[in-house]
Amino acid sequence: MPIEIINLSHEYNAKTPLAKVALCDINVKISDGEMIALIGETGSGKSTLVQHLNALLLPTEGKIQIGDQIIEANVKSHGLKQLRKKVGLVFQFPEYQLFEETILKDIAFGPKNFGVSAEEAEQKAREMIKIVGLDENYLEKSPFECSGGERRRIAIAGILAMGPDILVLDEPTAGLDPKGAKDMMDLFKRINEDFHKTVLIVSHDMEQVMTYCQRVIVMNHGKIIEDCNVHEFFQSSDLLKQLHINPPALLQFKDLCKEKGIEISKDALSIEECVREILKGVKR
Ligand SMILES: Nc1ncnc2c1ncn2[C@@H]1O[C@H](COP(=O)(O)OP(=O)(O)OP(=O)(O)O)[C@@H](O)[C@H]1O
Ligand SMILES: [Mg+2]
Repeated sequence: MPIEIINLSHEYNAKTPLAKVALCDINVKISDGEMIALIGETGSGKSTLVQHLNALLLPTEGKIQIGDQIIEANVKSHGLKQLRKKVGLVFQFPEYQLFEETILKDIAFGPKNFGVSAEEAEQKAREMIKIVGLDENYLEKSPFECSGGERRRIAIAGILAMGPDILVLDEPTAGLDPKGAKDMMDLFKRINEDFHKTVLIVSHDMEQVMTYCQRVIVMNHGKIIEDCNVHEFFQSSDLLKQLHINPPALLQFKDLCKEKGIEISKDALSIEECVREILKGVKR
């Protein structure tokens, strides 16, 4: 399901003394199967933008088209429930949204809410708990017996159980330990590659952005100021400086090698590839 955002603006508390323009004239196209990072300084509008993707927030100007559904400012939209099934939005700290007494009930809640039979919803829960890397015997436990990282997986399983085409994650690895964060990112990559879902991740972690995403959209003061291929982005040193972004360690390492006369190809984007290139140079 492709997404097209056209001249979208969002003003919180419009026409009140607390009015605040959070998004200003946003234009973006997202194709099926992309894995995209949405980055930008705190307060730049990332969370506001992603909440438009499943109509939790509505544009105050402009429009957004998701598949056949068009949501336009000042026009009453229908079928938003169906849209919320198609675009799974995972908030930051989704684990706080678990509320059922068992994990089974929690994961099955979404599909049931969308009219799936109880048996089918439970079947979905059994499938999804495994996809997020937890054992089926978790299903009978209470979510409150689980660790924060496990709970986050359960919350994500609940979103996946609704069968969304597009998965939108707002800072999904915030607060996880390095292994937990890596496992989580590997999971999203699998969801993108093996299940062919479009994945949009809001992140402040440039290592993750470089390792996992193909495209970067950069926001600043409610506007999109860059939208490009991830490798192009990390090669624009002036832009990175302007955005106060530290390039990923691997790129800093390559720059340092270059200063010392060891040129590493720009296509080498993992430690292994860099080592291979350095060895080639040494042998020469
Ligand atoms: N409910 C709200 N009411 C009024 N203003 C809001 C509301 N939510 C966000 N804002 C404002 O809108 C702007 C964009 O906020 P948003 O939460 O989208 O930023 P963000 O890029 O997600 O930031 P962060 O990286 O800190 O999560 C900020 O100036 C914020 O103060
Ligand atoms: Mg945010």
